[in-house]
Amino acid sequence: MSSKIHRIAISTGGGDAPGLNAVIHAAVYAATAQGWEVYGIREGFEGLLAPDGGNEGLVKLDRRAVRNIAHLGGTILGTTNRGNPLQHKSNDSGGRMEDRTDELISRFRAAKLDALITVGGDGTLTIAHHLSQKGLPIVGVPKTIDNDLQSTVVTFGFDSAVSFATECIDRLHSTAESHRRIMVVEVMGRYAGWIAIHAGIAGRADAILIPEIPYDIQKVADHLRRRISGEKSYAIVVVAEGAKPAGGGISLKEKARTDHVERLGGIGETVADQLQSLTGNETRAVVLGHLLRGGSPSSLDRLLGLNFGAAAVRALAAGKSGVMVALNPPRIEHIPLEQAVSKLRLVPLDGNAVITARALEISFGDE
Ligand code: F6P
Repeated sequence: MSSKIHRIAISTGGGDAPGLNAVIHAAVYAATAQGWEVYGIREGFEGLLAPDGGNEGLVKLDRRAVRNIAHLGGTILGTTNRGNPLQHKSNDSGGRMEDRTDELISRFRAAKLDALITVGGDGTLTIAHHLSQKGLPIVGVPKTIDNDLQSTVVTFGFDSAVSFATECIDRLHSTAESHRRIMVVEVMGRYAGWIAIHAGIAGRADAILIPEIPYDIQKVADHLRRRISGEKSYAIVVVAEGAKPAGGGISLKEKARTDHVERLGGIGETVADQLQSLTGNETRAVVLGHLLRGGSPSSLDRLLGLNFGAAAVRALAAGKSGVMVALNPPRIEHIPLEQAVSKLRLVPLDGNAVITARALEISFGDE
């Protein structure tokens, strides 16, 4: 395929993550070194599905345009997690939901684009898999602060999110101690507890609640009561947004709509209220939310983004399509998209993080 490539496009989809601009930077440098032209698609796939035919949605990316972006948070192309071409509003006045992937592919071809690098999480990569099955030459780059994608040891954005969450937990220790309070910190992560467990261990939390281990709030309260009556006068609890009580469901801010996934949140407040009444200790909840996604990438995420961007171009140059770049230390590999999106990567119960947390006497609320 590489001999036929003259123009490629790059898109960023789903929630933003620190490191997206590093991917764009490296992809543009590597692609222009091949003699290819590069165009950015604005706002995920939306730029190609705009009513005007997509012309406004494409932006030329040369080295000058991306020279100073690798260290910046967000994405210069914009992104959205509300525009799924598999279930997209039609352009006619009815606004029905329909599969517009054929239209997207024909607009892509009309713009004389030969291949696409798309950067995103499980939603974007699932769309990429469908587009690749319909014949669009495509390479995916895994992105998510949640770190819940199969087949890559880590995704960029995760390290920045964990570092910031840890810094926040560090700060909460002193205010919690001053007031002898329990502080409950809710962090993002969707159905996986990666951010919560890593930041919770690094920040030396007393309890960590993750979706993979349904909790019993009474057990959490008993553990904190023992802690507070011992050498410590306060406690820190880290709660993943997807954490759920044994036998209960996850806490939602918005139910799934036809064009969108469900929006999680609210569990931090619930847990704080319950802990206050069960322990009698003053308890406060803090939601870190989108603060975890904003700001500059850590050096690790920047490096990962740069490596992934260059590896995506290498994949196209080698004639590959329908693959995702993946970190399998010490190498970056190209694995089938299908394999990447088949199921979410959850925190393993027998993995190092859980074992270490238990060794540090951190409660998961299960024993
Ligand atoms: O997938 C990344 C993520 O940050 C999740 O952790 C979170 O549930 C979700 O995005 C929130 O996305 P938004 O508020 O942009 O819909």
